[in-house]
Amino acid sequence: MDNKIENLKKLAEEAKLGGGQTRIDDQHKKGKLTARERLEILLDEASFIEMDAFVKHRSQDFGLDRQRIAGDGVVTGYGRIDGRLVFVFSQDFTVFGGSLSEAHAEKICKVMDMAMKVGAPVIGLNDSGGARIQEGVVSLGGYADIFLRNTLASGVVPQISAVMGPSAGGAVYSPAITDFTFMVKNTSYMFVTGPNVVKTVTHETVSSEELGGALTHATKSGVAHFAEENEADCLLGVRRLISYIPQNYREDPPHVKSADQPNREDTSLDGIVPDNSNKPYDMKDVIKRVVDDGDFFEVHELFAQNIIVGFARLDGRSVGIIANQPAVLAGVLDNDASIKAARFVRFCDAFNIPLLVFEDVPGFLPGTDQEWRGIIKNGAKLLFAFSEATVPKITVITRKAYGGAYDVMNSKHIRGDMNFAWPSAEIAVMGPKGAVEIIFKKEIEKAGNPDDVEAKLIADYTEKFANPYIAAERGYIDEVIVPSQTRPKLIRAFEMLETKVDTNPKKKHGNIPL
Ligand code: HXC
Repeated sequence: MDNKIENLKKLAEEAKLGGGQTRIDDQHKKGKLTARERLEILLDEASFIEMDAFVKHRSQDFGLDRQRIAGDGVVTGYGRIDGRLVFVFSQDFTVFGGSLSEAHAEKICKVMDMAMKVGAPVIGLNDSGGARIQEGVVSLGGYADIFLRNTLASGVVPQISAVMGPSAGGAVYSPAITDFTFMVKNTSYMFVTGPNVVKTVTHETVSSEELGGALTHATKSGVAHFAEENEADCLLGVRRLISYIPQNYREDPPHVKSADQPNREDTSLDGIVPDNSNKPYDMKDVIKRVVDDGDFFEVHELFAQNIIVGFARLDGRSVGIIANQPAVLAGVLDNDASIKAARFVRFCDAFNIPLLVFEDVPGFLPGTDQEWRGIIKNGAKLLFAFSEATVPKITVITRKAYGGAYDVMNSKHIRGDMNFAWPSAEIAVMGPKGAVEIIFKKEIEKAGNPDDVEAKLIADYTEKFANPYIAAERGYIDEVIVPSQTRPKLIRAFEMLETKVDTNPKKKHGNIPL
C-alpha cells in the first residue's frame, strides 16, 4: 500500500507541473502567473479542492498521442471566497497554450454542472489559444457544450470570467455570456479575429492590445467590466465582487455589518447640487456620502461614464446602484449608457439585489449618430429592464428628471417602490428653455424684445415646473426629502421593503428589445 500511496503522490506532483518548468518560466517572463498561482490568490488559503487532475486527452493525430499531459491544460475544482463556496476553472497556458480539447471542455462542464446542482458561483480564469487545432470539430463541440451551460446557468448562479491571457475566436463567447468580465492591462486580449485576419480583410494595421486589450474593451466596446493593472488586482477584484452577490438566485446577498451608523446624516449633501441647474457636480460624491463607509464598488467604470453602476451596502445590505452622472455629458442617456445600465439592472434583479437609482438626467441624447445606432431600441432595453425588475426599487431624484428619461429611470409608474426627490428636483417634459421655445414660439417671434420675453417665460416655466411638488401632489414622488437625510431615509425604506414580493405574468420568457 505504501508504494501505491507514494505513486499517487508522485503522479499528483507531476500533474501540478503542467507543461513543465521551462514553460512555467516562460509564463512568468511574460508577466503572467500560472493557473495554480492564480487560484492561490483567488481562493481562501488552502481551500482549493482539485477535481480531474489526471484527465488526459484522447487524441491520436499530429503526434498528440505522444504528448498526454495530466490535467490537459485546465485546473478545475472548488474552493472558498470569504468562506463561501465557489467553483473554478483555471486554464493552464503551459499545456498546449491552454487550448481547449474535448477532455479540457468536459472538465469545465463538470464543474459548471456541479455548481448548478449545489447553487454556487462559477469563476473562469481564461488563458487559452482557443480551440485545440489538432482536435478539430470535437474541440468546437466542447466550446458549444460550455456555451450551452453558460446560457442555462445565466440567472441561476453568478458567472464571472477573468481573461488573463489570449481569448480569441469563438472562445470569446463564454466570457461574453457570463455576468462579469475582468481583464488585465497589457497581458490579456479578446477578439473574434486577430490582427492578421483584420489586416487581410479590412487592410487595417492594429496591435492585439489596440484591437482587443483590456482598455479597449473597458472603454470602447464595453465587453470588459473591469480593466485591472495586474493579475493580483484582477483576482482580488473578483473576490470583492463575490462579497456583494448571493450564491444563487434563491438566496439573498450576504449581510456585512458596518460601523457606519444607519441614522448618519451628511450635511454636505444639502449644498452639493449647484444653484445653476446647468452646472455639473459629481454624482459619485453623492453615492459615497450615502453608502456604508463611503465604499462603492464601481462596475464598468471606464465605459459610458455618463451613467454610473456598481455595488455598495446600506446598513450592511447589498444594493445595486444606477446613477446618472451630471459631470459627464450632463448625465444624458445615450446608447451605451442605456445598454450598460440595462444589463446591470437585470443582473441585480436576477440575483435579489435591491436597486437604488440616483437620478439627474436631462433626457436622451439627440442626433443622427444616436438615432442611427438605435437609441430607440437601446433606450427601450433600460425601460424594459427596470419595468420587469421585481426586487425592491428606490429612486432619488437629485435634480433633473426630464422627458422619457423620467419614465425610464425607475419611475413610480414602472413599479418604483419608493421614489424620493430632493427639493432641487426638476421634473418636467423637458428643460425650461426648450419647452418655452416650443410652446411660446409665436409669442417670442412677435415680441419687439424677444430675448427679454423668452427670459421671462423661462423664469415663469422654471418656477412652475422645475420643482418636485407637482409630481409629489400626484403621488409620483412619495416624499420630498432633505438631502442630508438621504442615508437614513433609504435605509428605512429598504428595511420596509425587505419582505417585498412582486411577480411578473406567467410566460416562457419576455422579449427584451435586443
Ligand atoms: C493547439 C496551441 C494552440 C491551439 C497555442 N498552441 N494555441 N496548440 N491549439 N489553438 C500551442 C502552441 O503550438 C505552442 O506549443 C504553445 O501553445 C504556446 O503557443 P505560442 O504560440 O508559442 O505562444 P505565444 O507566442 O504566446 O502565442 C499565443 C497565441 C498563439 C497568440 C495564442 O499561440 C496563437 O495564435 N494560437 C492560435 C490561436 C488561434 O487561432 N486559435 C484558434 C482560434 S479559433 P509549443 O509546443 O510549440 O510550445 C477558435 C474557434 C473556437 O478558437 C470556436 C468556438 C465556437
